Amino acid sequence: MVGRTAHLRTTFDAVAERYDRVRPGYPRQTVEDLGHLAALQAGSRVLEIGCGTGQLTVPLARLGTTVTAVELGAALAGVARRNAAAYPSVQVVVGAFEEVPLAEDAFDLVVAATSFHWIDPATRLTKSARVLRPGGSLAVIDTHHIAGGTDQFFVDVQRHYEKWDPMTPPGLRLQGADAIPVARPDLEDRDLFEPAVLRRYEWEAEYTTSEYLALLLTYSNHLALPAPQQDGLISGIRSLIDTRFGGTVTKRYLTELRVIRRRTPHSDRPRSR
Ligand SMILES: C[S@@+](CC[C@H](N)C(=O)[O-])C[C@H]1O[C@@H](n2cnc3c(N)ncnc32)[C@H](O)[C@@H]1O
Repeated sequence: MVGRTAHLRTTFDAVAERYDRVRPGYPRQTVEDLGHLAALQAGSRVLEIGCGTGQLTVPLARLGTTVTAVELGAALAGVARRNAAAYPSVQVVVGAFEEVPLAEDAFDLVVAATSFHWIDPATRLTKSARVLRPGGSLAVIDTHHIAGGTDQFFVDVQRHYEKWDPMTPPGLRLQGADAIPVARPDLEDRDLFEPAVLRRYEWEAEYTTSEYLALLLTYSNHLALPAPQQDGLISGIRSLIDTRFGGTVTKRYLTELRVIRRRTPHSDRPRSR
């Protein structure tokens, strides 16, 4: 991994405690569906990629699974260990998934929650397949910010991004879930995996001004802004929420769960690629 992505994926570690405080977990139905689709049971062996401070790790441990979590950031890993302290079956390893040595065929589930996009696309599917037992599942959870909630705020806030963040495309507008493509060619490998089963969950969260600003300061693109731009952006958004929206905004999320089974030696192979 090189360049901007390699830098951005390290930014969360400096704000580990804030990340833990303000980043949401996952809808209960998502965890239940993951358990069913991956046929998890007590003692199932789970490898979690990029666990953060344990947003999914703890619900997985509650299902009785044994979780090995590989987390790039040492501070994030420390908070995840603290959050999972009641579950001796959780082990958090500090390192990059691409580099950490892992046994072959050792896991029933490999799962990445809002983290697979940070893993090197050249190796993430092949390494996941290698560590899964045949018939085991890879689950990828993605989080999208979609249209809804305090709609007008998200229209009005755009001018602050255009002023302070050079990476913001002009005129950007949030899209509804229907406009988010269902197909994910980057998660397809017909030799290694069967087609994905997709589930989608829409939900909302309400934030006070200070909670919303803290949330923004856990996103890699906001964290990577030079201090003067970050300060300008944050103070503009603070004033917008306080003066025009009564100190509260609601954000609408789309959580996507894709579960992809590793082919077994007996699976029907595709005839052509
Ligand atoms: C957006 S956060 C998601 C954290 C958590 N899973 C959640 O649901 O909130 C992405 C996480 O992936 C971790 N990460 C990024 N690249 C990684 C890599 N190559 N190997 C392991 N973890 C990585 C980051 O440190 C961060 O904790």
